[in-house]
Amino acid sequence: MKFFIDTANLEEIKEAASYGFLDGVTTNPSLIAKEGLSDQNKRIKAICELTPGPVSAEVLACETEPMIKEARQLAAIASNVVVKIPMTMSGLQACSILSGDGIKVNVTLVFTSIQALLAAKAGASYVSPFVGRLDDIGVDGLNVVEEILGIYDNYEFITEIIVASVRHPQHVARAALIGADICTIPFSVIKRLASHPLTDDGLAKFMADHGKVKFSSH
Ligand code: G3P
Repeated sequence: MKFFIDTANLEEIKEAASYGFLDGVTTNPSLIAKEGLSDQNKRIKAICELTPGPVSAEVLACETEPMIKEARQLAAIASNVVVKIPMTMSGLQACSILSGDGIKVNVTLVFTSIQALLAAKAGASYVSPFVGRLDDIGVDGLNVVEEILGIYDNYEFITEIIVASVRHPQHVARAALIGADICTIPFSVIKRLASHPLTDDGLAKFMADHGKVKFSSH
C-alpha cells in the first residue's frame, strides 16, 4: 500500500519524506486555508518540488467548464499534479474530458461504491472515499472501500483507491489488510503509526539494564 500525506504544510511533508515511506501528497481547500494561503498554485508548485510522487490539488469551481479551465491550470504547474474534482455530475463531465486529454484526475468526496464506479467509468485515475466522515455518521467507511475494491476487481478498473479522511492508525491497518492501493494520512496520524507503549517501555528497560552493567577498561 502506498502512503500519501494529507497536508499542505511543507515542513510536515519534508519530515514525512525523511522517514522513507512517503509516496505522494494530497491537499484540499480546507488544508490550504489552514496554512493561511490565498495562492494555492504557489504552494502546489512548492510541494511538487519536494516530492516526485503524485500531488493532488483541488479545483474550486463547481461548474463543468470553469472546473476544466482551473484543472488545466493546475495540471500545468508540474508533471506530477493530479487534479482533484468533486464527485458531482459536473465533476464527472470534467473528469471524462480531462482524463481523455491525459490529465490525471482524483475524484474526491466519494461516500458510496456506486459513486466510485461512476468515477472509474469517467476515467478517474484515483478515487477518494472519505472513511472517517462515513464513520462519523455511523457507516463503516472501510466497508465501502471493500465494496469499491470488489467492484473494481470484477471489471478490472485500474483506478486506484485513496483511503481518505483517515483518523487513526487502525484505519491504516485495515486499509492495508483489505488491499486498498493508497492511504492518505494526516501528519498527526503518521506520527502515531510507529509508536506503541510497549515499545517505549521495552526500550526504557533495555536502557536501564544496560546502565547496570559495569564495563571494564582494557
Ligand atoms: O483527503 C480528504 C481529507 O482531508 C478529509 O479529511 O478529516 O477533513 O474528514 P477530514
